[in-house]
Amino acid sequence: MKYLILSIALFASTASFAGDIDIGKAGATVCAGCHGMDGKSVAPGFPNLAGQDLTYLKNQLKNFRDKTRTGGQSAIMTGMAAGLSDEDINNLAMYFSSLKP
Ligand code: HEC
Repeated sequence: MKYLILSIALFASTASFAGDIDIGKAGATVCAGCHGMDGKSVAPGFPNLAGQDLTYLKNQLKNFRDKTRTGGQSAIMTGMAAGLSDEDINNLAMYFSSLKP
């Protein structure tokens, strides 16, 4: 029993650190209007996210949120990322990187 509790605790902490695909999927509905629920852009000008590198996705979302990525169409994403926590970012990045490009 002790081991069971320990392994659940370990799993839970790993999940929140690494990101959780299912939680990311739930959060991705707000992204789908532009990037598609399958991570494929719905219109010209919106980048595909499906299968993109996990670390790259995390970094870009943090850069938009922290306003260190500017120019181009970044203002759209600055607004989108403003309210995201590090955990939200991990989950969203985990979801989009898991999709087939
Ligand atoms: C209203 C449309 C719109 C919505 C909604 C939107 N995005 Fe974006 N996203 C864009 C555009 C446009 C860009 C390109 C920004 C640029 O030119 O720098 C972009 C860029 C990105 C990038 C960088 C891609 C790259 O190749 O560098 C990521 C990652 C991203 N969006 C994730 C998300 C996530 C996650 C959500 C949901 C929380 C989201 N976006 C919601 C329009 C949108």
